[in-house]
Amino acid sequence: MAGYDALSHAVETFVTSKRNEISIEFSRRAWAELAPNYLRVLRTPQDITARAHMQMGACLAGSAIENSMLGAAHALANPLTASFGIAHGEAIALMLPHVVRFNGTLCEDWHRELLAETASEPNCPQGGSEELADFLKTLATEAGLPDRLGVCGIERDRLPHLAEAAACQWTASFNPIPVSRTELLSLYEQAY
Ligand SMILES: [Fe+2]
Repeated sequence: MAGYDALSHAVETFVTSKRNEISIEFSRRAWAELAPNYLRVLRTPQDITARAHMQMGACLAGSAIENSMLGAAHALANPLTASFGIAHGEAIALMLPHVVRFNGTLCEDWHRELLAETASEPNCPQGGSEELADFLKTLATEAGLPDRLGVCGIERDRLPHLAEAAACQWTASFNPIPVSRTELLSLYEQAY
């Protein structure tokens, strides 16, 4: 779960409204460390080299956050943790693929740039927002993380309340596409 969260930091920081030359470099390097090694660690937990890459990637992604903040996936995840006790990495995995598709209407080229960083890696995708979202979904599935809000004990009629809470999260204000309660509710519904 912590590895998935680190990946999400690389993905979200790369497209925020506060992205800049420094954060972009940290996000790129974080992605290059994390994306090829996530499945390696899952499939071969004793692979110390792959684990070292994940640690380095997590550190670089943290530095990216310091320089560019986060986005809607974190705004949506935090109320899931606060209200339903869903672990942060699981909450991120539930929301991030949907946020990538949503942001892809504006950030397709940036997502394409990020995937180009790992184009030569056999277990990483090529393409843009759709391929990135599919990849993130696959990683969550392989890790055994829940794939829908509906299987997490969340009643559908709680979604408007969650969207209100998500709209109050500071990270929501840095999403590349401005999000209000309306967009956030739509993203929860897609994830349900
Ligand atoms: Fe996080």
